[in-house]
Amino acid sequence: MEEYNVEFVAKDTSITVSDTETILQACLKEGFPLEYSCRVGMCLACSARIIEGKVTQPAARGLTSGEASKYALTCMARPQSDLKLRLGEYPPSIENSC
Ligand code: FES
Repeated sequence: MEEYNVEFVAKDTSITVSDTETILQACLKEGFPLEYSCRVGMCLACSARIIEGKVTQPAARGLTSGEASKYALTCMARPQSDLKLRLGEYPPSIENSC
């Protein structure tokens, strides 16, 4: 198991997230407020822009393949490196989500 630093830029907050948990799970465990709804990768409410780093999120069905390298669905995304994320930025496909 690897652990990574996940920094939320503009929030000036960082948490440690293992590669066995989602970013949302780690945030809820730490009491860090994060917007979410469906928790199954469809609604995009938990989206964050990836400023730096890599995630794996094969079950993030709400993202197009082009969006998956630019946005993390924190309910599905597990870190693969240290990350810098910007909350409150949503992919264009949010216009078509439920
Ligand atoms: S909470 Fe709906 S996509 Fe993450």
